[in-house]
Amino acid sequence: MAEKLKKAAVIGSGTMGHGITQLLAMNGYQVTMVDISDDLLQKGLEKIKWSLEKFAEKRRIRPEDVSTILARISTTTSYEQAAKDIDFAIEAVPENIELKKKVFAQLDNIAPPHAILASNTSTLSITEMGNATKRPDKVAGMHFFNPPQLMALVEVIKGEKTSQETINTLVDLSKKLGKTPVVVRKDVRGFIVNRVLGAVFNEAFWTLHRGEATKEGIDASVKYSGGFPMGWFELADYVGLDIASEVGKILYEAYGERFKPCVEVIEPLVKERKFGQKTGVGFYDWTKGRPRIPFNLMEEYDVERSWAVAANEAAWLVYEDAASPADIDTGMKLGTGWPSGPCEYADRVGIDVIVNKLKEMYAKYNMEMYKPCPLLESYISKGWLGKKTGRGFY
Ligand SMILES: NC(=O)c1ccc[n+]([C@@H]2O[C@H](COP(=O)([O-])OP(=O)(O)OC[C@H]3O[C@@H](n4cnc5c(N)ncnc54)[C@H](O)[C@@H]3O)[C@@H](O)[C@H]2O)c1
Repeated sequence: MAEKLKKAAVIGSGTMGHGITQLLAMNGYQVTMVDISDDLLQKGLEKIKWSLEKFAEKRRIRPEDVSTILARISTTTSYEQAAKDIDFAIEAVPENIELKKKVFAQLDNIAPPHAILASNTSTLSITEMGNATKRPDKVAGMHFFNPPQLMALVEVIKGEKTSQETINTLVDLSKKLGKTPVVVRKDVRGFIVNRVLGAVFNEAFWTLHRGEATKEGIDASVKYSGGFPMGWFELADYVGLDIASEVGKILYEAYGERFKPCVEVIEPLVKERKFGQKTGVGFYDWTKGRPRIPFNLMEEYDVERSWAVAANEAAWLVYEDAASPADIDTGMKLGTGWPSGPCEYADRVGIDVIVNKLKEMYAKYNMEMYKPCPLLESYISKGWLGKKTGRGFY
């Protein structure tokens, strides 16, 4: 289906926009990159050149490919020029729904009727963006991970009025770009990856707040005992505490008490603009490189707690019919480098073990985040305990 897609516009040339532009051009698409000033576009182009040269240095493309790829990219500040004859657009302007709605309305007025309009939003409503156009069936989410030239995952998100044909085309397009797509069948906040991550972040923040473990202890346990690539505090710093806080608020608004944010832990840092890696300080000091997480603290935190809330949130996604266990697992492994997906992990250790852990925490803390999802309870009552009984999430 994506065969028919040839010409693209990417709106925004920042962190994500320039990377998506590069990815499309590397895969043979003609792309026009749009921003609000020529200066910004120039900066975006320079980053693309730098990255392409890295690809050539590492022999992932030939040196002569650099100029061929760059020749497929043009830049403009005019939507008219960028979108008048496109087959699809990917929007990557700042995470603000009013701005995004405006961009979609503008694109809708200019782009040919067949064109698909996709948003790279991390968590905003695809349905609202679609409703800002006269073609909501052709509006969907296409959520790349940073940096999009390198990260393998794309979440393809269905808005309320998005057609299955649009989803199929974007799934196909993602594959043509060398990515692994996962489908988010409902326009749920946080989609898959940010939602499951939001749950484990909250559990870690609350654990720190209650004084049960230190951030170094939690991170050491998650990394060295749990086999995750980064500890939760290290990862939150890497993502940006401003973004983590914003996503946390959106999840709280959408799901209520289950996502009660631990404002005491994150907000003081956000107020001081200590956003993590990008500002040099967050939970950790990044000014001298990646924080050192001490090995000797790897027993301080019980990583099964993280797995339990992750599997619980995964269960909610399945229960709501927003995503399949396989797509959730793929999303967490490719989007954040988890050693295992939460559903396959739960099946391996036992759904009963996960539910017991949740119940133990629910009894102790009386917080909604630990209350087992009805789906897990129904698995238990059916005797679906995972691998050992032949049926669980899988
Ligand atoms: N940074 C990440 O790690 C990441 C990962 C996945 C998704 N996202 C999402 O991608 C989107 C963009 O994020 P980013 O980090 O690239 O932001 P950014 O601030 O780096 O880039 C946004 C760009 O959009 C431009 N812009 C602003 N208004 C515009 C308009 N009306 N028309 C055209 N361009 C306009 C800005 O000048 C800027 O260059 C957001 O929705 C974000 O949630 C970000």
